[in-house]
Amino acid sequence: MKVKSKKSQTAVPQKRSSRLSKKPRSLSQQTHVIATMEKKIARLNEWRRRLAALLKYGKQAAVMTNLDDLLLLLADQAKTVLNAERATVFIVDKKNQELWSKVATGTQTIRVPLDKGIAGAVAVSGHLLNIRDVYNDPRFNPDVDKKTGYRTRSVLTAPMFSAKNDVIGVFQVLNRKVGGNFDQQDEELLTLLSEQASAHVENAQLYQEIRKVTQETIIRLAAAVEYKDQDTRAHLTRVSQYAAFIAREMDFAKEWIENLRLAMPMHDIGKIGVPDAILHKPGKLTPEEWVEMKKHPRHGAEILKDSDNELMKMSAIVALYHHEKWDGSGYPQSIKGTDIPIEARIAAVADVFDALTSKRIYKPSFSLEETVGILDKECGSHFDPDVVAAFHRCLPKIIEVMKMYADNPNQAESVQLPTC
Ligand code: C2E
Ligand code: SIN
Ligand code: SIN
Ligand code: FE
Repeated sequence: MKVKSKKSQTAVPQKRSSRLSKKPRSLSQQTHVIATMEKKIARLNEWRRRLAALLKYGKQAAVMTNLDDLLLLLADQAKTVLNAERATVFIVDKKNQELWSKVATGTQTIRVPLDKGIAGAVAVSGHLLNIRDVYNDPRFNPDVDKKTGYRTRSVLTAPMFSAKNDVIGVFQVLNRKVGGNFDQQDEELLTLLSEQASAHVENAQLYQEIRKVTQETIIRLAAAVEYKDQDTRAHLTRVSQYAAFIAREMDFAKEWIENLRLAMPMHDIGKIGVPDAILHKPGKLTPEEWVEMKKHPRHGAEILKDSDNELMKMSAIVALYHHEKWDGSGYPQSIKGTDIPIEARIAAVADVFDALTSKRIYKPSFSLEETVGILDKECGSHFDPDVVAAFHRCLPKIIEVMKMYADNPNQAESVQLPTC
């Protein structure tokens, strides 16, 4: 890495000549040497700080699979390493011809047209730009400043390339904190950071793609199991989302929530082992029919069991225990309270909320008020009170999803889940 500045190049010969000289140094010479050494030590310390930051962030970024979190981490790293007031990583969205980014100040996403601004110019040209006074540069797009209420002075922007050499984004730092404008060292450092960041970003994008495909495969397969039901995909999407909202309200880890969200569509997969005549019976079930119906949790667990995969393990648990009740009156094992795995206690609330608010072949749909009334009435008997409390806290979001994915044959094709 070429990192020497002009200053250090002029300082080196002075030090060497004074060390080689046999003559005693004058006081002023000595003072000069000490001052030079101090400057060097300060510079070395600064580099040590930068390197330590690089290593620390590099380790964290390498294991981060969530793109939004990664972008914020990379921006934070660039800010620290380059002593900048702000940093932003923009990602190219080819389809919409835009650059988008997450800003640290919120969960909000910034979007700018790909052909506008300095960031856009770098994305299009693939060349780094170091601009000292942006408001005098015609390429500068003040829209981002307007959106964030921030005043940009100087901007250093580097492109990020994919392994296939396409520009996948740009890395931008704003307003150097000390020592004026961004210099050549900063340019080299940001280029280095961008190279590192590209690999991490591509990695996270790949993970995201895999998650999307997994989710879609699960929903399509689970829907195929209940293939006679027009509205099954919408139903599976809703219960997934409800369970994820409740779990988030209860502060579970992101990956755990993501697994629950993906596990939910498989909770009734065991119904494949229940005769159609029972599943689609318009009226009440006979006691014999109930015996068959109550086998569906075990059938489901049988289909999903014995995997080493965390998601499959959770799916098997949710399938097996989603009809257990808090007071021990559920099935198939009649276990109670916290003996019932928490993922299944959450699934129960999400499943019943959806069953009640939906029309079934054996029952009409209940109103939201009636549904919430039933859940409250069965809080502590059927349901875990903590889960019901969390359900209440995220009810506005649940209602939103309920409306967005309402049963409607025209919407039966929608298989995408909104991100949580
Ligand atoms: P499902 O239709 O998905 O219902 C899931 C759960 O929602 C039910 O589990 C129950 O806890 C709750 N639920 C549904 N409807 C009502 C209701 O009107 N009132 C109350 N308080 N809770 C309700 P459950 O009872 O163990 O049933 C499991 C599955 O058995 C149901 O899944 C459905 O496929 C089937 N099923 C239940 N009752 C009947 C019925 O009367 N006729 C037919 N054909 N199937 C039924
Ligand atoms: C731009 O690239 O023109 C926007 C700069 C900024 O983020 O303020
Ligand atoms: C029934 O009401 O017929 C039996 C339902 C149950 O045990 O869950
Ligand atoms: Fe079920």
